[in-house]
Amino acid sequence: MKRESTIIGQSVLISQLKQLALQVAGTDITVLIIGETGSGKDVLARFIHANSLRADRSFIPVNCGAIPSGILESELFGHEKGAFTGAVQSRKGYFESADRGTIFLDEIGEMPLETQVKFLRVIETGEFQRVGSSESIYSDARIIAATNKNMYQAVAEKNFREDLFYRLRSVEIQIPPLRERGRDILLLAETFVHEFEQKHKILFAGFSPDAVEMLMRYPWPGNIRELRNLIESLLVLEKEKYITPEILERHLVQRNRYKSLVHDPARSEKNELQIIYSSIIQLRQEVSDIRQLLQHLVQTRPITPLLLPDTSASVSPFTTALRPSFEENGDPAPAKETLHSLDQIERKSIAEALDACQGNKRKTALALGITERTLYRKIKAYGLHEPHDSIEKNP
Ligand SMILES: Nc1ncnc2c1ncn2[C@@H]1O[C@H](COP(=O)(O)OP(=O)(O)O)[C@@H](O)[C@H]1O
Ligand SMILES: [Mg+2]
Repeated sequence: MKRESTIIGQSVLISQLKQLALQVAGTDITVLIIGETGSGKDVLARFIHANSLRADRSFIPVNCGAIPSGILESELFGHEKGAFTGAVQSRKGYFESADRGTIFLDEIGEMPLETQVKFLRVIETGEFQRVGSSESIYSDARIIAATNKNMYQAVAEKNFREDLFYRLRSVEIQIPPLRERGRDILLLAETFVHEFEQKHKILFAGFSPDAVEMLMRYPWPGNIRELRNLIESLLVLEKEKYITPEILERHLVQRNRYKSLVHDPARSEKNELQIIYSSIIQLRQEVSDIRQLLQHLVQTRPITPLLLPDTSASVSPFTTALRPSFEENGDPAPAKETLHSLDQIERKSIAEALDACQGNKRKTALALGITERTLYRKIKAYGLHEPHDSIEKNP
């Protein structure tokens, strides 16, 4: 079977979804697929087509959100020569091309209201006219639509026609987000590891148990697409390395950092919290980058044991190990101070995140992009335990 017609997943939710998809595939019923971005809407639409009687005919995907509204109508229904400025030739639309095949209308929630009227007629009668023509054309295209929008809200706000919505969702299939799919996360990760090992001719050394735990706990806002991209960058950028939580964290944080740049910072409270979390994550990443750099510097300089200060003092092993190499330069003060303030920054970030999450450790760990275990360790190390524990709420 072709990759595009396979749905990977063994969770109960996915098994049920596959069963439903196979049930509807053999019919011509209109299907509305609902799911977050990257959750596999395209994959599911292709799966339905590939398992239908139309499998050997065209599957035509149309992204209604990516085509400017003025052009969408002529793209879907075609146009006659001279119908508008620039229409130098008559052209077939996607509906005509999908005759006896399947048309996949992605991001259907973005379809302009004027186009929706015409589209409703096509669903009901199969008939439409090219732009600039009054002649009716008939197309036997099976319609699959998809959206990541809350369609009830779009209907309530009058951005989407109610009659069209109910007509479209003759069958509605909801794809669960990746974070709700349990061990499918690992199954998919494994599949992508194999795929990219072959593609890039790299051997993957594996994930540490803590890193696996992190994969299972991460909320995957970009769903399977995000997981797939993560695996590819881990393979390519961390060549043949055993993946620890620290390495994983760095890659996940970079994704969050990028997201916080492209996200529209709408002024809702939720978004503000998101921005705070992103900043904390970013700050934490910078601290960890500097730490790594310093650690690397220490490792590449031999340390004379005799120069080590009294290790019974209450300094962290990291600080202790670093000090001699700076003292060698006769300038201990900056090193000590830098480290001190880095710890303070980290402590402050964690305390703030704990406050923002009302002491809920699971949420805090997610927000900071670290494992809960690491969070507990840091809370203990920084003596953050008492005040926050008393206000902890259950998730
Ligand atoms: N069940 C699945 N098994 C394997 N790969 C999948 C699965 N679902 C999605 N993918 C992969 O994840 C990425 C995003 O899927 P896609 O269908 O484009 O998501 P959406 O259309 O919901 O944004 C694609 O690379 C796709 O191949
Ligand atoms: Mg898609």
